[in-house]
Amino acid sequence: MKALVLAGGRGTRLRPITHTSAKQLVPVANKPVLFYGLESIRDAGITDVGIVVSDPREMLEPDRRSGQPLTVMVNSQAEIRAAVGDGAAFGLRVTYIEQSAPLGLAHAVKIAQPWIRDEPFVMYLGDNLIKNGITRFVREFERESPDAQILLAHVKTPSDFGVAELAGERVVRLEEKPKRPKSDLALVGVYLFDASIFEAVNAIRPSARGELEITDAIQHLISSGRNVRSHVIEGWWKDTGKLEDLLEANRIVLSDLASDVRGTVDAATQVEGAVRIDAGATVERSRLRGPLVIGAGAHVADAYVGQFTALGEGVRIVHAEIEHSIVLERSRLEHVPHRIESSLIGRDVVVTASDARPRAHRLMIGDSSRVELA
Ligand code: G1P
Repeated sequence: MKALVLAGGRGTRLRPITHTSAKQLVPVANKPVLFYGLESIRDAGITDVGIVVSDPREMLEPDRRSGQPLTVMVNSQAEIRAAVGDGAAFGLRVTYIEQSAPLGLAHAVKIAQPWIRDEPFVMYLGDNLIKNGITRFVREFERESPDAQILLAHVKTPSDFGVAELAGERVVRLEEKPKRPKSDLALVGVYLFDASIFEAVNAIRPSARGELEITDAIQHLISSGRNVRSHVIEGWWKDTGKLEDLLEANRIVLSDLASDVRGTVDAATQVEGAVRIDAGATVERSRLRGPLVIGAGAHVADAYVGQFTALGEGVRIVHAEIEHSIVLERSRLEHVPHRIESSLIGRDVVVTASDARPRAHRLMIGDSSRVELA
């Protein structure tokens, strides 16, 4: 069995972070989302992994609201290659498969065929996080050997996903992002296939969004009378492609945190709950309420860092309060008068108060950013 991991795509719902970075590398509890997937593939006993990456090039794309052209970086392939390398650090053998443009999940399967050959494989969308891993589903697929196995989960907003209609346990119909969903069962971004999927991806046509949809390819298998099994997962699953879902993933992963303090915490700091403080981080005269993680070399002083917060390497929080947020490397929150919460802050960002007159908010914010002022 092989694994095909999809790490392309535009990440439009996580802009501006994804203008410069791959959405699969946004950290959850200070670890890139993609790494959780790679670890669960390894834990399922699979070692051969193909990672589909997109060509690193700029594309002009109309902005959804204004219609104005925006420059969009098509996923940063180099960044993913640098982070994962040959996979040895994960106990995997990684092969990179280049997708010339983000033409859909079924297109990725198509171009991966020469690497997959006729082996069964698990396809894993690199921004998906399944808390209890995939070992159970892989074993089930091996035992039952259907042509395909899909995982489903009950969701509140089915129209954001591929949606399945079931008759008992049988999958009757699948529809990609339907306006009027027939159920609340979303397709989870982990699929198991045998070689019959190649016939299906070659038979389908692009969808309205111009992509070859894996949902349509699986529907094609169903329509051709193939055996498509489904499994409704009870455990927790998130597609981290949107801010709210990413923060929720961060919250869930941090909920299981065990305390581990390698950095320095002074006597004037109050610590509650589980905290992980990496080597070289310093905390002074502050209040930490875990679960939270503070990355290597970070500095927290006269500050409050609340529950479900992940501060990346070299972050500085000075005279500021933050909670339920993710802050990427080297950003600084200094002398901020209001508590910051439910936020995703990119790399090398500075948020600070200023005494300059007139009193005003002065902003330099990238394309597609979102700022809510209290
Ligand atoms: C993709 C699939 C969708 C699936 C989702 C799971 O959507 O097209 O069917 O439910 O992943 O994460 P996308 O994230 O590409 O919009």
